[in-house]
Amino acid sequence: MVSVAIDGPAGAGKSTLARRLAAELGYIYVDTGAMYRAIGLYALRAGKDPKDNAAVNALLPQIELRLASIEGEQHIYLKEEDVSTAIRTEAAGMAASAVGANPAVRAFLLELQRDMAKKQDVLMDGRDIGTVVLPDATVKIFLTATPEARATRRWKEYQAKGVDTPYEEVLADVKQRDYQDTHRAAAPLKRADDAVLLDTSELDFEQSLAAMKKIIAEKVNQTIK
Ligand code: DC
Repeated sequence: MVSVAIDGPAGAGKSTLARRLAAELGYIYVDTGAMYRAIGLYALRAGKDPKDNAAVNALLPQIELRLASIEGEQHIYLKEEDVSTAIRTEAAGMAASAVGANPAVRAFLLELQRDMAKKQDVLMDGRDIGTVVLPDATVKIFLTATPEARATRRWKEYQAKGVDTPYEEVLADVKQRDYQDTHRAAAPLKRADDAVLLDTSELDFEQSLAAMKKIIAEKVNQTIK
Protein backbone atom coordinates (compact mmCIF):
# COMPACT_ATOMS: atom_id res chain seq x y z
CA MET A 1 0.00 0.00 0.00
CA VAL A 2 1.19 3.49 -0.78
CA SER A 3 0.61 6.17 1.83
CA VAL A 4 1.30 9.85 1.44
CA ALA A 5 1.34 11.86 4.67
CA ILE A 6 0.77 15.57 4.35
CA ASP A 7 1.13 17.69 7.46
CA GLY A 8 1.29 21.40 8.05
CA PRO A 9 -0.43 24.37 9.66
CA ALA A 10 -3.98 25.55 8.97
CA GLY A 11 -4.43 27.24 5.62
CA ALA A 12 -1.28 25.94 3.91
CA GLY A 13 -3.47 24.44 1.18
CA LYS A 14 -3.20 20.84 2.37
CA SER A 15 -6.76 19.74 1.77
CA THR A 16 -7.27 21.42 -1.62
CA LEU A 17 -3.98 20.06 -2.91
CA ALA A 18 -4.44 16.65 -1.34
CA ARG A 19 -7.94 16.28 -2.77
CA ARG A 20 -6.73 17.03 -6.28
CA LEU A 21 -3.64 14.82 -5.96
CA ALA A 22 -5.69 11.91 -4.65
CA ALA A 23 -8.06 12.20 -7.62
CA GLU A 24 -5.16 12.24 -10.07
CA LEU A 25 -3.31 9.40 -8.41
CA GLY A 26 -6.38 7.27 -7.73
CA TYR A 27 -5.72 7.24 -3.99
CA ILE A 28 -8.31 7.71 -1.28
CA TYR A 29 -8.12 11.13 0.31
CA VAL A 30 -8.43 11.12 4.09
CA ASP A 31 -8.97 14.53 5.66
CA THR A 32 -8.20 13.94 9.34
CA GLY A 33 -8.94 17.58 10.21
CA ALA A 34 -12.58 16.86 9.30
CA MET A 35 -12.66 14.20 12.01
CA TYR A 36 -11.42 16.63 14.67
CA ARG A 37 -13.86 19.23 13.36
CA ALA A 38 -16.76 16.78 13.65
CA ILE A 39 -15.87 16.06 17.27
CA GLY A 40 -15.46 19.79 17.94
CA LEU A 41 -18.87 20.43 16.38
CA TYR A 42 -20.43 17.66 18.43
CA ALA A 43 -19.05 19.22 21.63
CA LEU A 44 -20.32 22.69 20.68
CA ARG A 45 -23.77 21.36 19.87
CA ALA A 46 -23.84 19.52 23.18
CA GLY A 47 -23.14 22.85 24.88
CA LYS A 48 -19.72 21.73 26.11
CA ASP A 49 -16.50 23.71 26.10
CA PRO A 50 -14.23 21.93 23.56
CA LYS A 51 -11.27 22.78 25.83
CA ASP A 52 -12.84 20.88 28.73
CA ASN A 53 -11.25 17.45 28.27
CA ALA A 54 -13.38 15.70 30.88
CA ALA A 55 -16.62 17.00 29.35
CA VAL A 56 -15.50 16.01 25.82
CA ASN A 57 -14.30 12.60 26.98
CA ALA A 58 -17.73 11.91 28.46
CA LEU A 59 -19.22 12.51 25.00
CA LEU A 60 -16.86 10.20 23.09
CA PRO A 61 -18.78 6.94 23.65
CA GLN A 62 -21.87 8.48 22.03
CA ILE A 63 -20.05 9.82 18.98
CA GLU A 64 -20.72 7.78 15.87
CA LEU A 65 -18.30 9.12 13.30
CA ARG A 66 -18.38 7.73 9.80
CA LEU A 67 -16.58 8.60 6.60
CA ALA A 68 -17.80 7.82 3.14
CA SER A 69 -16.45 8.61 -0.28
CA ILE A 70 -19.16 9.85 -2.64
CA GLU A 71 -18.05 10.50 -6.21
CA GLY A 72 -14.50 10.82 -4.98
CA GLU A 73 -15.40 13.37 -2.28
CA GLN A 74 -14.98 12.59 1.38
CA HIS A 75 -18.19 13.06 3.35
CA ILE A 76 -18.26 12.92 7.10
CA TYR A 77 -21.24 11.86 9.17
CA LEU A 78 -22.24 12.17 12.79
CA LYS A 79 -24.68 9.28 13.08
CA GLU A 80 -26.87 9.73 9.99
CA GLU A 81 -26.23 13.45 9.53
CA ASP A 82 -23.83 14.58 6.83
CA VAL A 83 -21.88 17.34 8.60
CA SER A 84 -19.37 17.93 5.78
CA THR A 85 -20.54 21.54 5.38
CA ALA A 86 -21.39 22.27 9.03
CA ILE A 87 -17.79 21.55 10.11
CA ARG A 88 -16.34 24.22 7.82
CA THR A 89 -16.99 27.22 10.05
CA GLU A 90 -14.29 29.15 11.91
CA ALA A 91 -15.95 28.12 15.21
CA ALA A 92 -15.75 24.42 14.28
CA GLY A 93 -12.10 24.93 13.29
CA MET A 94 -11.26 26.45 16.66
CA ALA A 95 -13.20 23.71 18.44
CA ALA A 96 -11.28 21.11 16.39
CA SER A 97 -8.01 22.67 17.44
CA ALA A 98 -9.14 22.50 21.09
CA VAL A 99 -10.28 18.85 20.99
CA GLY A 100 -7.10 18.02 19.05
CA ALA A 101 -5.13 18.82 22.20
CA ASN A 102 -7.07 16.13 24.08
CA PRO A 103 -5.14 12.81 24.17
CA ALA A 104 -8.34 10.73 24.51
CA VAL A 105 -9.72 12.28 21.33
CA ARG A 106 -6.46 11.55 19.50
CA ALA A 107 -6.52 7.93 20.68
CA PHE A 108 -10.17 7.66 19.64
CA LEU A 109 -9.26 8.66 16.06
CA LEU A 110 -5.88 6.98 15.70
CA GLU A 111 -7.04 3.44 14.95
CA LEU A 112 -9.69 4.65 12.56
CA GLN A 113 -7.05 6.58 10.63
CA ARG A 114 -4.51 3.73 10.63
CA ASP A 115 -7.15 1.25 9.48
CA MET A 116 -7.94 3.37 6.47
CA ALA A 117 -4.31 3.30 5.37
CA LYS A 118 -4.12 -0.48 5.75
CA LYS A 119 -6.90 -1.15 3.27
CA GLN A 120 -6.11 1.22 0.39
CA ASP A 121 -3.61 3.65 -1.07
CA VAL A 122 -4.18 6.87 0.82
CA LEU A 123 -3.24 10.46 0.83
CA MET A 124 -3.84 11.60 4.38
CA ASP A 125 -3.61 15.16 5.60
CA GLY A 126 -3.43 16.48 9.13
CA ARG A 127 -0.96 17.60 11.76
CA ASP A 128 0.60 14.37 13.02
CA ILE A 129 0.30 11.98 10.10
CA GLY A 130 4.02 11.67 9.34
CA THR A 131 5.01 11.75 13.01
CA VAL A 132 2.36 9.61 14.76
CA VAL A 133 -0.38 8.15 12.58
CA LEU A 134 1.70 6.78 9.69
CA PRO A 135 5.35 6.95 10.77
CA ASP A 136 6.23 4.53 7.95
CA ALA A 137 4.40 6.47 5.22
CA THR A 138 5.83 6.04 1.73
CA VAL A 139 6.02 9.80 1.27
CA LYS A 140 5.93 12.58 3.86
CA ILE A 141 5.42 16.19 2.96
CA PHE A 142 5.36 19.12 5.36
CA LEU A 143 3.40 21.84 3.64
CA THR A 144 3.68 25.33 5.02
CA ALA A 145 3.38 29.04 4.21
CA THR A 146 3.71 32.26 6.19
CA PRO A 147 0.76 33.12 8.50
CA GLU A 148 0.02 36.17 6.31
CA ALA A 149 -0.10 34.11 3.09
CA ARG A 150 -2.37 31.56 4.76
CA ALA A 151 -4.66 34.21 6.27
CA THR A 152 -4.95 35.94 2.89
CA ARG A 153 -6.04 32.68 1.23
CA ARG A 154 -8.56 31.95 3.93
CA TRP A 155 -9.89 35.49 3.83
CA LYS A 156 -10.39 35.22 0.04
CA GLU A 157 -12.26 31.94 0.50
CA TYR A 158 -14.59 33.64 2.98
CA GLN A 159 -15.11 36.58 0.62
CA ALA A 160 -15.95 34.20 -2.21
CA LYS A 161 -18.57 32.59 0.02
CA GLY A 162 -19.97 36.00 0.93
CA VAL A 163 -18.70 35.80 4.51
CA ASP A 164 -17.41 39.21 5.53
CA THR A 165 -14.79 38.44 8.18
CA PRO A 166 -12.12 41.15 8.63
CA TYR A 167 -8.64 40.07 7.47
CA GLU A 168 -7.13 40.95 10.86
CA GLU A 169 -9.53 38.55 12.54
CA VAL A 170 -8.63 35.73 10.15
CA LEU A 171 -4.92 36.38 10.70
CA ALA A 172 -5.38 36.37 14.48
CA ASP A 173 -7.24 33.03 14.23
CA VAL A 174 -4.50 31.54 12.04
CA LYS A 175 -1.87 32.57 14.57
CA GLN A 176 -3.86 31.34 17.53
CA ARG A 177 -4.48 27.99 15.86
CA ASP A 178 -0.76 27.68 14.97
CA TYR A 179 0.11 28.33 18.58
CA GLN A 180 -2.39 25.80 19.91
CA ASP A 181 -1.44 23.13 17.37
CA THR A 182 2.32 23.45 17.89
CA HIS A 183 2.35 23.89 21.67
CA ARG A 184 0.05 21.09 22.78
CA ALA A 185 1.57 18.14 24.58
CA ALA A 186 -0.31 15.47 22.60
CA ALA A 187 1.07 14.94 19.07
CA PRO A 188 1.97 18.59 18.41
CA LEU A 189 2.29 19.85 14.86
CA LYS A 190 5.86 19.40 13.77
CA ARG A 191 7.77 18.27 10.73
CA ALA A 192 8.82 14.62 10.79
CA ASP A 193 12.61 14.36 10.36
CA ASP A 194 12.14 12.55 7.06
CA ALA A 195 9.42 14.83 5.66
CA VAL A 196 10.12 17.01 2.65
CA LEU A 197 9.48 20.68 3.45
CA LEU A 198 7.44 22.62 0.90
CA ASP A 199 6.76 26.33 1.47
CA THR A 200 3.90 27.52 -0.73
CA SER A 201 3.95 31.22 0.31
CA GLU A 202 5.17 32.27 -3.13
CA LEU A 203 3.52 29.49 -5.12
CA ASP A 204 0.09 29.45 -6.70
CA PHE A 205 -2.10 26.36 -6.71
CA GLU A 206 -0.76 24.83 -9.93
CA GLN A 207 2.85 25.43 -8.89
CA SER A 208 2.24 23.87 -5.49
CA LEU A 209 0.53 20.91 -7.15
CA ALA A 210 3.45 20.41 -9.53
CA ALA A 211 5.95 20.58 -6.68
CA MET A 212 4.01 17.96 -4.73
CA LYS A 213 3.65 15.64 -7.69
CA LYS A 214 7.40 15.80 -8.17
CA ILE A 215 8.08 14.92 -4.55
CA ILE A 216 5.60 12.04 -4.66
CA ALA A 217 6.81 10.73 -8.02
CA GLU A 218 10.40 10.71 -6.83
CA LYS A 219 9.48 8.76 -3.73
CA VAL A 220 7.05 6.34 -5.26
CA ASN A 221 9.40 6.03 -8.16
CA GLN A 222 6.85 6.43 -10.87
CA THR A 223 5.94 9.20 -13.27
CA ILE A 224 2.66 10.96 -12.61
CA LYS A 225 1.17 12.72 -15.56
O1 DC B 1 -6.90 20.91 8.92
P1 DC B 1 -8.08 21.54 9.66
O2 DC B 1 -8.03 23.05 9.68
O3 DC B 1 -9.39 21.03 9.18
O4 DC B 1 -7.90 21.03 11.17
C1 DC B 1 -8.69 21.54 12.22
C2 DC B 1 -7.98 21.37 13.56
O5 DC B 1 -7.96 19.97 13.90
C3 DC B 1 -6.54 21.81 13.62
O6 DC B 1 -6.43 23.16 14.04
C4 DC B 1 -5.90 20.87 14.61
C5 DC B 1 -6.76 19.64 14.58
N1 DC B 1 -6.11 18.52 13.90
C6 DC B 1 -5.25 17.75 14.63
O7 DC B 1 -5.02 18.04 15.80
N2 DC B 1 -4.66 16.67 14.06
C7 DC B 1 -4.89 16.34 12.79
N3 DC B 1 -4.30 15.24 12.27
C8 DC B 1 -5.76 17.13 11.99
C9 DC B 1 -6.35 18.24 12.59
